[in-house]
Amino acid sequence: MSGLDFSGKGVLITGGASGIGRASATLFAAQGAAVAISDIDEGKTREVARDLGNRHVAAPGDVSNEESVANIVATARAGLGRIDVLINCAGVSDTFAPTLEQSVAHWQRIIDINLTGTYLTCRAVAADMLEQGEGAIVNISSIAGLVGLPYRNAYTASKHGVAGVTKSLASEWGQYGVRVNAVSPAYVATPMVKTLIASGRVDEKAIQRRTPMGRLATPEEIGNVMMFLASPLASYVNGTVIPIDGGYTGYGAAGAAVDID
Ligand SMILES: NC(=O)c1ccc[n+]([C@@H]2O[C@H](COP(=O)([O-])OP(=O)(O)OC[C@H]3O[C@@H](n4cnc5c(N)ncnc54)[C@H](O)[C@@H]3O)[C@@H](O)[C@H]2O)c1
Repeated sequence: MSGLDFSGKGVLITGGASGIGRASATLFAAQGAAVAISDIDEGKTREVARDLGNRHVAAPGDVSNEESVANIVATARAGLGRIDVLINCAGVSDTFAPTLEQSVAHWQRIIDINLTGTYLTCRAVAADMLEQGEGAIVNISSIAGLVGLPYRNAYTASKHGVAGVTKSLASEWGQYGVRVNAVSPAYVATPMVKTLIASGRVDEKAIQRRTPMGRLATPEEIGNVMMFLASPLASYVNGTVIPIDGGYTGYGAAGAAVDID
């Protein structure tokens, strides 16, 4: 049996209707998992679950709402039989407005979805996992959880928070067989980033120049590491936040890392 064989395992993926979550769902399904797709976009949630095939289920809902999270987990548990893995991909970007022009409502919304949503979903699956005596949770932080991005206060704070709550939960639950880790991607070619590039808020060429590998990541390159962290291959990995950034946060020289026109 391969260490990446998820046959007989139930995997709940939030933000599963798009981008990194959707790519991860396809990767886990290909390794035999039964996947519960969850997303606030109910139509796309059902479409992605249907496209994945018969053993997979749709569990739509809003991760920032406690009652909705309870429904997501109950639907996933009923459809999958059990939840062995939680992959937390639901998240939103921010406005890139100068700090003095930002609203507190905007700040609160980003924190509610990215940080409180992660906390709520971890908490909601934990009761089952602790009773089972095993489970793996992988959260999504960001390079914005490792360094500061100007204009992006709420996003940066939410992703530092995701790294923090990951380490805290890992410290509490590790002794009961439940591992909690996070990944910190740099820029990934998903609908979220394509929208930022199209609106001029992210300069794709500048990102490529600043990245030692000279390109953005694919969603599958993030999903593969999340799958590794959820697998028995990572059985002693707990409380880590792993950058998946083509060398972005390791790069320290003053100018561009790569010569790209
Ligand atoms: N794309 C990147 O470059 C990048 C880099 C680092 C971290 N991330 C993080 O990865 C995660 C996925 O991003 P992506 O690029 O795949 O984005 P995406 O927009 O393609 O997918 C995010 C999904 O989350 C869903 N979602 C939003 N709010 C929700 C809510 N309240 N409840 C449930 N679902 C909700 C959206 O409907 C969407 O389907 C996010 O947390 C993002 O911050 C992305």
